[in-house]
Amino acid sequence: MTAPTHIAHIKSLLHHAFGESKEKAGGAAFREIHSIHVATIVEELLSTMSEVSTEEHEEVVYAALLHDYAKRHRIGEDGYLRGSHAEEELFGFSSHEILSAHEAQQILTPLIGELRAHRVAEIITSHSDPKTTTAEVLHDADELAEMGLMNFWKMATYSAIKDRSLPATILYWFEEDRQRHLLKSEALFLDASKNYATASIEMLDMVFKQISREIGLTNENADINLPRS
Ligand SMILES: [Fe+2]
Repeated sequence: MTAPTHIAHIKSLLHHAFGESKEKAGGAAFREIHSIHVATIVEELLSTMSEVSTEEHEEVVYAALLHDYAKRHRIGEDGYLRGSHAEEELFGFSSHEILSAHEAQQILTPLIGELRAHRVAEIITSHSDPKTTTAEVLHDADELAEMGLMNFWKMATYSAIKDRSLPATILYWFEEDRQRHLLKSEALFLDASKNYATASIEMLDMVFKQISREIGLTNENADINLPRS
């Protein structure tokens, strides 16, 4: 079977696992969407990197799609994905990365063989603290998936559920979240990722400044006058 066939199979597993789940920041089916989003960013980063072989390229895409797969064990009865690690511990694994890696290996071994499935599992296990280029690609793509317009969507959905106003959300971006993103972008490994992060931050600046103008929060100096309460 070909890589596209495997990818279609993995996407159907993701839909089955997360199609009915929800997250306060991101809404319904967000973990399914996030997994596909990370794979898309992986493809974009890899398009700038000639040192990664075709086999490795496919393996990082599989890793991206399955890197959060074990989080399905955290779906509560209310359908919300919880932050606790208790489920991983229940299964005898110390983190969702290690449990996801284990599950990815089980899914992929019949599809691509034990050796390549093991390499995918290694990428997932180590992407929080990467030691290889392929794990760096997954690390950076996972971080970048939280930035830019997807971050806008997460803020919007979270604000709605918390009854936070649009001006308060704009304030949150400029005074807190933007700083967090700058720190995150400094911790990225690849130059292509840093460029992507800069473009994402600039995009949200532009979006929030435009909204500020449209709802009358901008003064004659183009400063945004945000309500403090
Ligand atoms: Fe993730």
